[in-house]
Amino acid sequence: MEEEKTRELAGQMVEPLLDWFAENARKLPWRDDPKPYYVWISEIMLQQTRVEAVRGYFRRFIAELPDIKALAEADDERLLKLWEGLGYYSRVKNLKKAAAAVMEKYDGQLPSAPEELRKLPGIGSYTAGAVASIAFGKKAAAVDGNVLRVMMRLWGSRSDISKDAVKKQVGSCLESVMPKQYAGAFNQALMELGAIVCLPNGRPLCGECPVREICSANREGLQEELPVKPAKKPRKIEEKTILVLETDEGILVRKRAEKGLLAGLWEYPHFEGKQSEEYVRSRLGAAGLTAACIRALGEAKHIFSHIEWRMTGYYIRLAHRAGLSEAAGKAAEEEAQYAETADAGRGSTGRAETLGQSGSTDGETQAAGRSGGTGRAEIFGQCEAALKGCIPVHPRKLREEYSMPAAFDAYQILLRHKNQPDEEV
Ligand code: ADE
Repeated sequence: MEEEKTRELAGQMVEPLLDWFAENARKLPWRDDPKPYYVWISEIMLQQTRVEAVRGYFRRFIAELPDIKALAEADDERLLKLWEGLGYYSRVKNLKKAAAAVMEKYDGQLPSAPEELRKLPGIGSYTAGAVASIAFGKKAAAVDGNVLRVMMRLWGSRSDISKDAVKKQVGSCLESVMPKQYAGAFNQALMELGAIVCLPNGRPLCGECPVREICSANREGLQEELPVKPAKKPRKIEEKTILVLETDEGILVRKRAEKGLLAGLWEYPHFEGKQSEEYVRSRLGAAGLTAACIRALGEAKHIFSHIEWRMTGYYIRLAHRAGLSEAAGKAAEEEAQYAETADAGRGSTGRAETLGQSGSTDGETQAAGRSGGTGRAEIFGQCEAALKGCIPVHPRKLREEYSMPAAFDAYQILLRHKNQPDEEV
């Protein structure tokens, strides 16, 4: 379709779309009061995440961190906890970095120009356009997957929507027809139409669409074929055996590396591959640990963007071992002391590191603190790689303070049954 025709069709959709949005816009917390900070946080949360899932997260985030200054000063562990389950955790790390930059360079006020917004960590052209238009009324397009689907269908276009050139072309066409006073409403209306009417996977509700009469896909029955995008590469499958290890002192968890998948989150220890109960017993035995009770927790799957985890889980109650409680008690004491001093600028999250050096056999206290800290109790002297860095955490504390990815949801049995009797429903 020629450029002039695409612009003409886009122009024709403006009025019916705005009228439809005025009647059908979902009531969302960040729409009631579109402060720049609220719009920014909501748009970052909405990347790759459905509106319904975001509502609760948004409310909690704003209640605890009501402004940019609070976000810039937020504790990293607390931020991860507030983001727990939303996925794509680099988003929240970038939010904090961007907030710090806004405090430093813009006196705590989010800039309104899309070009300035784009200089901030985590803000690409979609988010810059959304914030500039919704919070500041700027004529800037916000082209996300929903918008691309709507426009490709409207135009009956077979352009590949994964191409940057196509996104740019759509953006400049939309900017040319966007009404000046309604830039934010226009962008939101397009996204909303994509989210609740012009649905993906051949399931659009064309009967409810305000622009069905001018839509090429509707006229020609191309809804299933459009938009065109290249087939995704198959995900890499990784098998894992997850261990929910309970000791007298708590459940064993450890912090993931600061780089890579689920960076900085807490996880259950695990073995690579799908392993049997005998295998688990023997590996624990080799580390000097005895399972007093072991129970299969079944299989679970978690899908990331490029990887799929296929998991087998075991709950294991470790037998009491001489010295274990004493060492863990000491670790807990240190943890409490550490938490107090962390606020005074030690640069730590106040958690003890108790299972440290893999391969150590002497069982002596070792320096394993992540911030070059004090000597910390080594609970399992002979611990092996799969347990390296593990600390015992009381289930309630684990639930309330430690951020664990949704990938482990199927294995949170102890957190739910034992320690969430007062969980809100
Ligand atoms: N998806 C992402 N941002 C949105 C918004 N502002 N309104 C509706 N859906 C969205």
